[in-house]
Amino acid sequence: MSEHYNSEVWTEKYRPRKFEEMVGQVEIIKRVRALTNSMNIPHLLFAGPAGTGKSTLALIVVKSLFGESWRENYLELNASDERGIDVVRQKVKDFARTKALGDVPFKVIFLDEADALTREAQQALRRTMENFTSTCRFILSCNYSSKILDPIQSRTVVFRFQLLEKKDIKKRIDLIAESEGLSINADAFDALYEASEGDCRRVINLLQATASISPNITPDLVNTIVSKARPSDIKIVLDYALSGDFVSSKEKLLDIMLKESISGQDVIKAIQKEVWNLPIDNALKVRLTEKTGEIEFRLVEGADEFIQLESLIAAFVMAGIGNGVGGLKESG
Ligand SMILES: Nc1ncnc2c1ncn2[C@@H]1O[C@H](COP(=O)(O)OP(=O)(O)OP(=O)(O)O)[C@@H](O)[C@H]1O
Ligand SMILES: [Mg+2]
Repeated sequence: MSEHYNSEVWTEKYRPRKFEEMVGQVEIIKRVRALTNSMNIPHLLFAGPAGTGKSTLALIVVKSLFGESWRENYLELNASDERGIDVVRQKVKDFARTKALGDVPFKVIFLDEADALTREAQQALRRTMENFTSTCRFILSCNYSSKILDPIQSRTVVFRFQLLEKKDIKKRIDLIAESEGLSINADAFDALYEASEGDCRRVINLLQATASISPNITPDLVNTIVSKARPSDIKIVLDYALSGDFVSSKEKLLDIMLKESISGQDVIKAIQKEVWNLPIDNALKVRLTEKTGEIEFRLVEGADEFIQLESLIAAFVMAGIGNGVGGLKESG
């Protein structure tokens, strides 16, 4: 097996190249396809969770519009890479200066992670979009449309992508399994899907990692690859916190995250599940769940994992004190 073959990334190898190859997002694909066929698309906003097909669909649109000459007519920018809107504006200007090649009267600019732009940058983007509407169409992609200014939203047609359903993920996994000669039984697929939570990129990456160990995919094999915070470890963190022992709680948390290299977001998810098993009253569970959601949102937005998780533990400590939930430490 050549090195090239080994280094091939399956998410790219199996990235759909035609509308028909996409799974899920049925209504979106139908409408976007119709717009593309009319050869006249408005500005588009693709909003939704990671790994659900936003970038993939944007590329399909561009390739369908321009065929062979898509590269000349397409500019991809990542809002979080570009230092400030001035860079974006300059790149857009340079790109938009020349006319589109071929039959389509406009070029396409794909702006990924548009929700990473500040308000001011978005104001500037809005003006840029207006100035170049005759020569360019924008496709904006973001995780949270709520972070995109209304005046931009109102200038785009908004499409809300959903997490992929099990049956749709299965279609892609079956295709890859067939092509790569893997055997995946129903339980192994369940384990893959559960770990992916509807994120197609994650499920494909996980499958590739698992297949690098053995082509016979089993649930055990999948679970050795998925690093998940063990509920029993998370319970110890929470028990310490509720009993008022902030320091031990924090140490245990660091231990889990560093030694087992589990991400902040995975820890949050595990905490969120574990809250409901704690020996505390429901009102408190609800409050802590709310707090957990808030911290999760901040992590998704890119806040520092350790600071945010410490602040979450602090909330558990406060909740424990406020409700006289002392003496839980022994149970940990
Ligand atoms: N709807 C889908 N149908 C088929 N494959 C998909 C779909 N969504 C995602 N994939 C697979 O997952 C990979 C990542 O998808 P994509 O880059 O489109 O995600 P995204 O929605 O742009 O995510 P992000 O928000 O992280 O940018 C693709 O290369 C493809 O292999
Ligand atoms: Mg993307």
